[in-house]
Amino acid sequence: MSAKKAVTADAQKKAAAVAALKFVTSGMKIGLGTGSTANHFTVALAQKVKQGLDVQCVPTSKATRTLATELGLKITNLNEVPFLDYTFDGADEFDPQFRLVKGGGGALLIEKIVATSSRYVVTMADQSKQVKKLGAFPLPVEVVDVGVRATVWKMDRVFRKVNMEPKLAVRLDGDKPFRTDCGNVIIDCVCGEIKEPDRLDIMLNNLPGVVDNGLFINISGIIMLGKADGTVEELRRE
Ligand code: 5RP
Repeated sequence: MSAKKAVTADAQKKAAAVAALKFVTSGMKIGLGTGSTANHFTVALAQKVKQGLDVQCVPTSKATRTLATELGLKITNLNEVPFLDYTFDGADEFDPQFRLVKGGGGALLIEKIVATSSRYVVTMADQSKQVKKLGAFPLPVEVVDVGVRATVWKMDRVFRKVNMEPKLAVRLDGDKPFRTDCGNVIIDCVCGEIKEPDRLDIMLNNLPGVVDNGLFINISGIIMLGKADGTVEELRRE
């Protein structure tokens, strides 16, 4: 008997996204995440809308807004609709406590604003995102473009307080700093292992100049995990 071939990471993302559709019913207001997994969800959602599902969507980035608009989804925003039923988004990593690292696509700030305006947050992920300890993926920190070197210096001091010495680098787009949809800059922090994520999250966000960081703690309650064997596991935070 031949062994079953493992499905690709992209197929795992798509399976997780399609499985997450089960939470959506007509009349809901939902946040749409950013990235390849969230895109699978947006495409699958649009198919359901063509079949009669009626939902209003708040995108978490210009890229997602463009995709959702092209697909004919009803778009709104948090000024019109400040409370959402669900947000569906991807992640760069998640640990057993459902703490996430996000922001690989640079949308962490709007993703966090939209997620924390939602009653439920569903994270959709392929198996490579499941880790015992956060930190293999560089932690993105969004900072204002004023005194970036000073902010990086303060960030370095904060990391030392939790016994970390990550390499900090301004994210580039070609030879220029990458700009988020809000016009800010991202510092990618190559950590190895993130010690005390809860404390680090608060300390980083306390620094003048830091707008937000990619740690999402106590935000996601459900994880739809696409697995290499083609199945999707639903994980719930206790
Ligand atoms: C964007 C994000 C994404 O959710 C994260 O980068 C995962 O991306 P992908 O679904 O393409 O693997 O946080 O800011």
